Amino acid sequence: MKDLSMHILDIVENSVKAGATQVVVDLNYHDDVLEMTIRDNGCGMDTETVKKVLDPYSTSRTTRKVGLGLPFLKMNAEQTGGAVQVESEPGRGTLVSATFVTTHIDCVPQGDIPATLALLITGHPDINFRIRIAKSTGSFEISSEEIKEVLDGVPVSHPRVNVFIRNMLKEEI
Ligand SMILES: Nc1ncnc2c1ncn2[C@@H]1O[C@H](COP(=O)(O)OP(=O)(O)O)[C@@H](O)[C@H]1O
Ligand SMILES: [Mg+2]
Repeated sequence: MKDLSMHILDIVENSVKAGATQVVVDLNYHDDVLEMTIRDNGCGMDTETVKKVLDPYSTSRTTRKVGLGLPFLKMNAEQTGGAVQVESEPGRGTLVSATFVTTHIDCVPQGDIPATLALLITGHPDINFRIRIAKSTGSFEISSEEIKEVLDGVPVSHPRVNVFIRNMLKEEI
């Protein structure tokens, strides 16, 4: 069973595969709903592909295997009363947005979102990530660029940096 952090990993890895140089991850917690939005400036998809990626059965599947990342996300979101939205434009980028009613009995656990985000940031030093976390109590924002400034020459891939990012995010999530 997938947890929400693994879904985030999945969606962002799609952005990485799409050649994105910028990825924005928005986590919006309001009442009992978690809205996660991931925006990238990767290669994008045409309208037909967008339709296909959300439904693994709509294709004849002769040329390539269609992944299950997005259909799984859709299933897990919808079974809580939430939804998934994909907007994309070839050459411009993609937006994937998923809402989860976290109090619903069928909502998968959150998993370790801080660890997943730290892994993504440190594992892809050439991608500029921006993480935004919004809650009723306030909001928090951090980017790869800002982290690099604070590090003052220490490589983002340094193991201590992973711990630093994880701990910082843990306080916000
Ligand atoms: N952010 C994105 N940018 C461009 N194409 C994407 C993006 N996300 C998904 N896709 C396309 O949708 C397909 C299906 O994605 P997914 O369901 O995660 O399965 P998989 O990653 O295993 O192929 C990808 O192979 C890719 O062609
Ligand atoms: Mg995928």
